[in-house]
Amino acid sequence: MIALVLPGVYAPQDDTELLAEALREEAPPPGARVLDVGTGSGALALEAARRGAAVTAVDVSRRAVWTARLNAWLTRLPVRIRRGNLFAPVRGRTYDLILANPPYVPAPDAGRGPQGRARAWDAGRDGRLLLDRICRDAPALLRPGGVLLIVHSALSGPDRTLELLRAADLKASVVRRRWIAFGPVLRSREDWLRRSGLLAPAEDREELVVIRAERPC
Ligand SMILES: C[S@@+](CC[C@H](N)C(=O)[O-])C[C@H]1O[C@@H](n2cnc3c(N)ncnc32)[C@H](O)[C@@H]1O
Repeated sequence: MIALVLPGVYAPQDDTELLAEALREEAPPPGARVLDVGTGSGALALEAARRGAAVTAVDVSRRAVWTARLNAWLTRLPVRIRRGNLFAPVRGRTYDLILANPPYVPAPDAGRGPQGRARAWDAGRDGRLLLDRICRDAPALLRPGGVLLIVHSALSGPDRTLELLRAADLKASVVRRRWIAFGPVLRSREDWLRRSGLLAPAEDREELVVIRAERPC
């Protein structure tokens, strides 16, 4: 999907692929306005641009922004790439499609919050540090008929995501699910997850979900 990933930047993984599948199914028409929030390497932004969408991508990490810019340049695909905190760089704009693969992994308290590379995946004790903000702020950025596609772990409360998006008058449902083996991050905190009750004693795989939420016309 992409040409390179600079050190410290999230390399596309199962969650990226699951969201890319939902994006392909959504099939935004050429010219559709697409926002990829937390773009990382730019993989999803480039996938949308390849389909002719007018894409903006945002990431808080300088390295991610440079990686996404390099990948856009190498693939000759036009993507506007901005550095900033979630929706701050695109305030006042609206979109036909918003893609989000945010940090969502539950993490023991780090005091100052996620630091370094972990900012790509750690999201507070319940995994919802970014998810709740996206559910709160994304609906106002959707045009009538616009769609939010968001991927996260079933460990970080998909019911809460559905509840928040429905409370914002969006039509929301789970459109994709996939069980995957624990990656190195979950393996390293398996004991803590079990002690916190987030992981059942016999559970040894993680379920990913994609939630689709549509603003009525
Ligand atoms: C799980 S990675 C996903 C990367 C890419 N979209 C993908 O699917 O492969 C999450 C990304 O969100 C970015 N991020 C974390 N906090 C953010 C924030 N407050 N605003 C914007 N981006 C953020 C991280 O730097 C990281 O690149």
